[in-house]
Amino acid sequence: MLIWRSKWIRYCSLNFLQNCRRFTCCHVANKSPKVKDVHLLQGALGPPLELIQPKEKTLLPPLLKEVNLQQKKFADCILLTRVGNFYELYFDQAEELGPLLNLRVSKKKTSHYEVSMAGFPFFKLDRYLKILVEDLKRCVALSEEALRPADDFSSKNMYTRFVTRVITPGTLIDENFMDHFQSNYVMSIISQDSVNNANQNDNVSEGLNEKSSSLRIGLSWLDLSTGEFFSQTSDHQRLVGDLARIQPKEIVLDNRLQGVGSHPILESIDRSIYFVSYTPMQDWSFQQWSAYLEKEIEPTYIENCSIIEKRAGSVLLSYVSDRLLNSHTNLRAPIHVSLRDSMLIDASAMKGLEIRSSLQENRYTGSLLHAIKRSVTKSGSRLLTQRLCSPSTDISEINRRLDLVEVFIHRDQLRTEIRHLLKRSNDTHRILQRLLMRRGNAYDLLGLSNNFSIIKNIESLLTKTSSKTLKPLLNALYQHDALASLISEALNESALVRKRTEEEKEAEDIAAQSTELSESESIVSGAKKRTSVPENGFKQNFSDIWIITPTFNETLQNLHKRIESLLLSYDKLQNTLDKKFESKATLRKNPSKLYYVHMKSSNSLLLKEFMSVFPKATVFHTTKATASIQLPEWSSLGLELESVKSFIHQEEARVLQIIIDTVLEEHKKIRETANILDELDISTSLADLAAECEFSRPILDDSLSNTIIQGRHPIVEKGLKNKLLQFTPNDCLVGNSGDNIWLLTGPNMAGKSTFLRQNAVISILAQMGSFVPASYAKIGIVDQIFSRIGSADNLYHQQSTFMVEMMETAFILKNATNRSFIIMDEVGRGTTARDGLAIAYGCLKYLSDVNRARTLFATHAHELAEKFKAYKNIKCYCTDIIVNENTDTFTFDYKIREGVNMRSHGLRVAEVAGLPKEVLVAANELLHQTTSP
Ligand SMILES: Nc1ncnc2c1ncn2[C@@H]1O[C@H](COP(=O)(O)OP(=O)(O)O)[C@@H](O)[C@H]1O
Ligand SMILES: [Mg+2]
Repeated sequence: MLIWRSKWIRYCSLNFLQNCRRFTCCHVANKSPKVKDVHLLQGALGPPLELIQPKEKTLLPPLLKEVNLQQKKFADCILLTRVGNFYELYFDQAEELGPLLNLRVSKKKTSHYEVSMAGFPFFKLDRYLKILVEDLKRCVALSEEALRPADDFSSKNMYTRFVTRVITPGTLIDENFMDHFQSNYVMSIISQDSVNNANQNDNVSEGLNEKSSSLRIGLSWLDLSTGEFFSQTSDHQRLVGDLARIQPKEIVLDNRLQGVGSHPILESIDRSIYFVSYTPMQDWSFQQWSAYLEKEIEPTYIENCSIIEKRAGSVLLSYVSDRLLNSHTNLRAPIHVSLRDSMLIDASAMKGLEIRSSLQENRYTGSLLHAIKRSVTKSGSRLLTQRLCSPSTDISEINRRLDLVEVFIHRDQLRTEIRHLLKRSNDTHRILQRLLMRRGNAYDLLGLSNNFSIIKNIESLLTKTSSKTLKPLLNALYQHDALASLISEALNESALVRKRTEEEKEAEDIAAQSTELSESESIVSGAKKRTSVPENGFKQNFSDIWIITPTFNETLQNLHKRIESLLLSYDKLQNTLDKKFESKATLRKNPSKLYYVHMKSSNSLLLKEFMSVFPKATVFHTTKATASIQLPEWSSLGLELESVKSFIHQEEARVLQIIIDTVLEEHKKIRETANILDELDISTSLADLAAECEFSRPILDDSLSNTIIQGRHPIVEKGLKNKLLQFTPNDCLVGNSGDNIWLLTGPNMAGKSTFLRQNAVISILAQMGSFVPASYAKIGIVDQIFSRIGSADNLYHQQSTFMVEMMETAFILKNATNRSFIIMDEVGRGTTARDGLAIAYGCLKYLSDVNRARTLFATHAHELAEKFKAYKNIKCYCTDIIVNENTDTFTFDYKIREGVNMRSHGLRVAEVAGLPKEVLVAANELLHQTTSP
């Protein structure tokens, strides 16, 4: 739509001479494919184009020649070629994708050619891009149409086409189908060995395998829709966790990895989830980066950025600029992500704690994010996700966030009013990025202007409070009064609303026309498919909607005055005709901008009379009942009107660009203010959550212990609430008296796993800056959260449950520090009881002797408690069931208490689950045999 709009402005800004040229050229174009006795063999219909003899190739119609060239140039892409109001697929791409896109594939015939093609109206581009890029995971090259420069005589064709952009899942900018509540990252991953081998032509995988145990990698990721740009140094073992945290839509790798069988990086990337592209290695200087950035790179970034990170950034920028071709990228200055600044949540913890998606159905509903999200803006939601996936380790930053939440908890009305205002705001980050990338329009300016007035209202609300905590936010809320009044003075808002309605109506008309397109239409006469404006009365036909206020500047004022006077001349001429010919003669303009008189009669006497009044007139067409007459007075008036109209369009486009440029001069301040709005959205929404769910403010310190009183699990609690059930809170004081490991035993279904997870979740929520589901929480800062929960077969990578379990356990034992928080749920379950016990014993011993992290370890193997009796740092806790001996029934109380539970009550749970009586009797018999002395 945007592309179309700007093209339309451009189109309209051409003066009438070009219109005349268009008319002639289209006419010529219709005739151009004079190819005799040659059958075009290509695509699905025959041998590929390159097999066509040179002589025959030159005989291809100009449009097909262009398509052929571009399909070869963008060989990995689906080429969508704009022809008039349509995007078309040609040759074998039409054959392949037409059916998938539900488009009719037609065989277009010219005198000798038969070519497959399929197309859709231009305004449906977003819908088809979504299918092609998001669902079918294909790259799309967009070939746009433009008027051939007047001095280009290389072809008779009026239009030429060139690829303006290649669209992949990670290079979306402002497509409607983007998820605005999520970031849209494209990420490059570069390994140390490929940097080492960059100047040699070595086999990358060979170099890697030797060192794969600790292969350093550089990561860089950016979101074109917001301009965010990050980099980080990591290692290949952490890559799965990094990916789970960042969740890029596309991954860019060194092209020497393409076709390589095994490589640690390739093994960490699940191809069923991630779209992978390859690109050549780059080593750009920071100076080269600057061309793609909106501002200088911070010196601290340059200091902290490792060589490998810099490579990753260079590769990413080069890839993106390749895909965007001529567009301006204008990214924000890069941010170095340090592993020390944030809590690392490993991949299995991300999954097991259901941070972004539920474990069972892998959906947002049922996730932690879903349980805590109350944000009302899109950018606020994106920031919330970032903070949840990457909680802070900086106590003062966490307290700053918590202070804000607390302020809003105590100010219900202020909170409600701010949230109400934020709900009406637009996504400044994405609007700004569109403007910076030269894709913005008048509607974007209106969106910003709306935000400026919201900021004003928020400022006046905040000014009324005496809170010191809110002062920094208030001070950073920049008012854009001058910009706001410039936009409101310049833009004609009601005209823009009307314009949008008209555009939608026009889109509907084109859609209706598209179904009526005849099969016999020539593929080379794209002009035929252009929308034809119905032959209305002249005034309706000329009713352009002016989006800039006519009095905005002197030029516009004069042009509008000129139009008014020309319209008066038109009225005068029409009046003369009405008087002389009894309203039989009407001044008209046809779709090709031909100005003529329409006579509702072809009576020769009447025509003669006409000629006597207007001796220079020429009758150029007659039917039984009508005549069309060229009237020089009308032609010159009409052409002058066209010319003035095109000047107004030009001036409007110029004014619009000036306003956009003026806005962009302040883009840094606009961005900073938008960040404050995001902060307000998050603080007020977390305050809402805390108030609604009775969360309390956590205390964070440098200790290595947790004191959580009456802790709850927000997801399980939410689920129980829906069934009108209550959650039983539990305390967790791990690390408080030298007991950094809690060994948890107890029956199935009695709440062990829930307890483990809730304590990890509470740490995450606290460190992201949220209140927590507990009546009291004091938490020593956690550097990494690890979890080994449940069974997760990874059949895609041919790994069994047990193998996955052992790999995850190994990763934890290798990486956890004494500041980490580990939950281990039934480690060793995937093998025989004997082996399982031995493995659990070994792990616990290692955790106790080496890692010394805060650990909650749930097991059915109560023998472990006996084995670690002497360990002061391992304390035993258990869950139990309450058995009613009279009725032989039991209930869970979900209470964690000190001690060891020797009975797992597996058979009772089996009975509740409905196992046949015979099975239970036999099982009981065996149980008694094995337990009796
Ligand atoms: N503290 C609690 N309060 C209320 N219900 C709970 C609690 N803990 C667990 N549950 C319920 O019990 C079910 C099983 O809990 P789970 O933690 O999986 O038990 P275990 O790991 O001991 O087998 C949960 O799905 C939840 O419905
Ligand atoms: Mg369990």
